[in-house]
Amino acid sequence: MSAQIIDGKAYAAGLRQRIAGAVGDLAGRGVTPGLAVVLVGEDPASQIYVTNKARQTLEVGMRSFEHKLPATASEAEVLSLVQKLNADPAVDGILVQLPLPKHIDTQKVIETVDPAKDVDGFHPINAGRLMTGVPGLVSCTPLGCLLLLQSVKPDLAGLDAVVVGRSNIVGKPMAQLLLAQSCTVTVAHSRTKDLPDVCRRADILVAAVGRPEMVRGNWVKPGAIVIDVGINRVPNPAAGEGKTRVVGDVAYAEAAAVASAITPVPGGVGPMTIACLLRNTLEAACRRRGLAMPGV
Ligand code: GUN
Repeated sequence: MSAQIIDGKAYAAGLRQRIAGAVGDLAGRGVTPGLAVVLVGEDPASQIYVTNKARQTLEVGMRSFEHKLPATASEAEVLSLVQKLNADPAVDGILVQLPLPKHIDTQKVIETVDPAKDVDGFHPINAGRLMTGVPGLVSCTPLGCLLLLQSVKPDLAGLDAVVVGRSNIVGKPMAQLLLAQSCTVTVAHSRTKDLPDVCRRADILVAAVGRPEMVRGNWVKPGAIVIDVGINRVPNPAAGEGKTRVVGDVAYAEAAAVASAITPVPGGVGPMTIACLLRNTLEAACRRRGLAMPGV
């Protein structure tokens, strides 16, 4: 079997186009959604993410507010900025780029963001809403994974889903989203016994562990749908000394020979995260004004 490649880049481009259309309609009603991004420090990967977020925010017609603080900024300064953004009527969504410098309590910052503006879906109120089936803002990467899954299989009910990874950002919300789709969900992690066996039971296998090519082809059930959340930079000596390439958490070629559908890395889940962030910003902007969320 040769798997269908799930093109996240194309899906994300389509989603952004539909969001831009909805933002255009809102503009006619005098509403322009605004997204504020807070970056503390000079982490190069975070700087690239934040620049891409700002560009794509403007491209769909939203307002972008960038707040860059030095790595030496105190926790109180970050909390005070978040409170200012909470109170700013032009700001519909707030994203504080993680990781934060070690001297700042990340959980405290997350819990200071107004849940109505929490476009990352990290606030315990939104995590709790997801768990209890109440509408709320859902973490962007798992939401993107679900959209990609549904693009190849709209009805997931009754399927066995295995999520490898239990982070608050991906693994746990992914498991909740799949449960809400009536999957039978297993959350596996670094202490799971017989991990390859557990994975082999999955009709849907989501890998979110941050270990390059850990999930091998013989861990994949024939016909399974494989979603690879990993973005790992590894040496690529074939391209020359010091060169690197990006691989996922799944050994792609091996898994693609067994799966029915698979996301590539790059070009799979990655592009969906920012597209879903924009979707969440649109949702927050509508909900704060009592408007219906457009179907995007
Ligand atoms: N750092 C890496 N990914 C993310 C994300 O989705 N949200 C935030 N806030 N920080 C991140």
